[in-house]
Amino acid sequence: MKTLKIGALASGRGSNFQAIIDSIETGCIHAQILVLITDNPKAFSIERAKKHGIEYLVMRPKDYSSRDEYFRDIASELKKRGVELVILAGFMRVIGKPLLAAYPDSVMNIHPALLPSFPGLHGQKQANDYGVKISGCTVHFVDEGMDTGPVIIQAAVPVNDDDTEETLSERILRLEHKIFPEAIKMFSEGRLEIHGRKVRIKGAAFDDRPFINPLPGK
Ligand code: GAR
Repeated sequence: MKTLKIGALASGRGSNFQAIIDSIETGCIHAQILVLITDNPKAFSIERAKKHGIEYLVMRPKDYSSRDEYFRDIASELKKRGVELVILAGFMRVIGKPLLAAYPDSVMNIHPALLPSFPGLHGQKQANDYGVKISGCTVHFVDEGMDTGPVIIQAAVPVNDDDTEETLSERILRLEHKIFPEAIKMFSEGRLEIHGRKVRIKGAAFDDRPFINPLPGK
């Protein structure tokens, strides 16, 4: 089976980055992460990259004269290495046009809320403060908007009366670590088709179970 070449962008802790590394190392996904690019020299993701022998680059927007130039350079580093799929694993910036143009329908993001609710920063806090009873996480293709691209997979969790931002975030994060690798696996198998706003998943098993749709699939 073909090995998907991945480039990861992350700004912080990198627990999603780790979940993807683990899914690759255990053979669940046929892929290789060729490079981690971070905008934060103190990101713990760097330690994870080092531990797993993944090349990393620190690229900070302040070292560039424009946002376009920044994302053009990121795209060029990814292309140079033959990256086919770009994953945003807690990368806290809106992606610039040059990167999207270089990777059409090939940039994926994980967001800690059920989009289109609560986009942007602190999706978990926004949901908890709003008082919704169900929240969750979303993996979606990235477009020029803020968390507006076509949805690939979502998973939901209950929001409890006594939740804090922290307790809700932990509950959501456990599902993030499942659905992000699942979305990447489906991409690597060529099972994702974008039709306008809809992402159709070839061979997925949908049912009426609450909380996660689609099922991991066949
Ligand atoms: C995750 O909860 C991810 O969904 C969120 O940042 C966290 C990163 O954690 N991303 C966003 O809010 C993007 N708008 P991690 O570094 O441990 O993966």
